[in-house]
Amino acid sequence: ERNPVGKLLLFGATGDLAKRMLLPSLYGLHADGLLPAGLTITGSARSDLNDDAFRDVTRKALDEFLPADRKDAGAIDSFLQRLQFQPADLSDPNSFQPLADKIGDVSSGLAIYLSTAPSLFEPAVRGLESVGLAGDTVRIGLEKPLGYDLESSREINDTVASAFPEDRIFRIDHYLGKETVQNILALRFGNSMFEPIWNATGIDNVQITIAETVGLEDRAGYYEGAGALRDMVANHVLQLVALIAMEPPALYDGTAIRDEKAKVFRSLRHMKPEEVQGYTVTGQYEEGAVSGKVVRGYDSELGYDSDVETFVAIKAFVDNWRWQGVPFYLRTGKRMAKRRSEIAIQFKPVPHSMFSGRGGLLQPNKLIIRLQPEEYIQLLVMTKEPGLDREGIKLREVPLNLSLDAQFAGSRRRIAYERLLLDLIEGDQTLFVRRDEVEAQWRWIDAIRAGWAAAQTKPKHYAAGTWGPAGAIALTERDGVSWHDD
Ligand code: BG6
Repeated sequence: ERNPVGKLLLFGATGDLAKRMLLPSLYGLHADGLLPAGLTITGSARSDLNDDAFRDVTRKALDEFLPADRKDAGAIDSFLQRLQFQPADLSDPNSFQPLADKIGDVSSGLAIYLSTAPSLFEPAVRGLESVGLAGDTVRIGLEKPLGYDLESSREINDTVASAFPEDRIFRIDHYLGKETVQNILALRFGNSMFEPIWNATGIDNVQITIAETVGLEDRAGYYEGAGALRDMVANHVLQLVALIAMEPPALYDGTAIRDEKAKVFRSLRHMKPEEVQGYTVTGQYEEGAVSGKVVRGYDSELGYDSDVETFVAIKAFVDNWRWQGVPFYLRTGKRMAKRRSEIAIQFKPVPHSMFSGRGGLLQPNKLIIRLQPEEYIQLLVMTKEPGLDREGIKLREVPLNLSLDAQFAGSRRRIAYERLLLDLIEGDQTLFVRRDEVEAQWRWIDAIRAGWAAAQTKPKHYAAGTWGPAGAIALTERDGVSWHDD
């Protein structure tokens, strides 16, 4: 049941995420008439801005980051009217009373969005509580990273839980806001044809790739404490694993869906330290060329030598009845050959081929779910090549195509945060991450990191603009499997 709030408080309102994603998303909701009529948005950050200066900052951000066809002068003006600003230093307890005064009465409901360093979560929660901004009508959204291991994430969760019950905590994983990610649920549970073979009997392996072409992007302070495993796998990649692997939820609601995802996370096979070497590959980019442009190596961008991984590939297993023995090959990296997020489900080969010797091996069927940059679903099937081949019949692999762009041509592409901000404002937790999910994710991640620490694993270098170190290819080829590529 949706229960919209009357006020939104955005911490980190002048930060990079706010400018690139959050403010443009809120504007998108406003322009489409999706925000509650009287909703006011209070921005807050350390910067000493007044309301008008914050509106100017926002106007500039919208100008820079909105696509041209979304810039409606009238809508921008009326959006800016919703905004006000209150400077606050979250580490200073005296910041909160002025903030509470500025926001005023919260009986109509307040949604708070913390887009700040996690070290500020604790003082923020304490401060909010001290001025009455944590009561029954207040809900809180938390941007990642939610800690850097199980222990630190527990501390954050405990702190937040001391002021907010779980049903008012909204942990953000922006991948869950993506249309194509939600579409996994539609594909799996809105169709009858996949589910009977969606298991170890029908599926040979699952491959998940999140490849980026960007590098460090001025985020050294954060990224050096994270690395690819914690930045991408601990959240986005594992959420994709859960959506692919989970049992059918009985309802489309936050409890049913998150119960099933949590079971998947609890079923992830924890690696023993001595297994980690065989099941993971880490890499760090060095100089190379991405899309024809020469780019620097990671160490050179940083200005010092680092052992932080910018690429990781993992062979993972979900230890339950459905997925016994099916490898989930996961990989993610910066400065890869292409920007591509994709899930490839490779089905079992036919049990017997009557076509052997008739040109071309039979390729196993694959279901390709391309999340970005394009949005499509392809089912790769073997088909007869047209023609009067002397052998009688010749087969070739071709895609059955569902292009979301072509099929839903009129609908605009939304920023993932539009969905999530709307759900935060309206109080729907379905696409937010529950505490038990986060902690189970970290438990599995920590086992990998313990293995790396024990073996003093250092990432292998790979040239920017490639698919990572050779070991990542070997990880699947050893099993007779190739990463899907086209
Ligand atoms: C963020 C990571 O969570 O996701 C970034 O911190 C990464 O390092 C980003 O670049 C990728 O998001 P998207 O939506 O561009 O795939």
